[in-house]
Amino acid sequence: MNIAVFASGRGSNFAALARAMKKGKIQANLSLLVCDNPKASVIGRARRAGIRVALVKREDFATRNDFEQKIIQHLEENDIGLIVLAGFMRILGPDLVIRYKDRILNIHPALLPAFKGAHAIKDAFDYGVKVTGVSVHFVDEKMDHGPIILQAPVEIEETDTLESLEARIHKVEHKIYPKAIKLFIEGKLKLEGRKIRIIQ
Ligand code: GRF
Repeated sequence: MNIAVFASGRGSNFAALARAMKKGKIQANLSLLVCDNPKASVIGRARRAGIRVALVKREDFATRNDFEQKIIQHLEENDIGLIVLAGFMRILGPDLVIRYKDRILNIHPALLPAFKGAHAIKDAFDYGVKVTGVSVHFVDEKMDHGPIILQAPVEIEETDTLESLEARIHKVEHKIYPKAIKLFIEGKLKLEGRKIRIIQ
């Protein structure tokens, strides 16, 4: 199966996934990076790894729908079976979500449904929770909402700064995301309404 990663920024999750695939841990091809930000460092990572880059800028299109149609064209040309969102800073519209229903994953740096949104690590840190973490979930029409595949807790220590917490969260992300993608690729995720059963 061909996988497309959507990312807008640094791309550490993209790199972790590329490493897992190179080591043969996941039986699929990371064939495409879809990026909406020409300045994102994930682009350089993809080029160095020899992975095709589709740079699709929102400002080049009159409407969100036109922008997404262009993305869909790239996905179809590359015969993509799974979309992996990894720091893609846009909400997907209904066309894409419906067309790739149950084939879009996202990673969120908090224990959903707590701390949805773009600043989850800081929000959890500022709130003063003792435990936060990482969630991998299917994407539906609502932000940070679809069925949860895997979660992992991360304890917040009294000595933590926002930076040290971010670093630990990212480390956990880089383990849990390849694991969830592997389960998907191996057909081990059984959707039962909102709940997901992992077939052993
Ligand atoms: C990650 O923290 C992810 O959970 C969130 O965006 C961040 C992307 O980081 N959705 P990177 O670009 O993969 O380094």
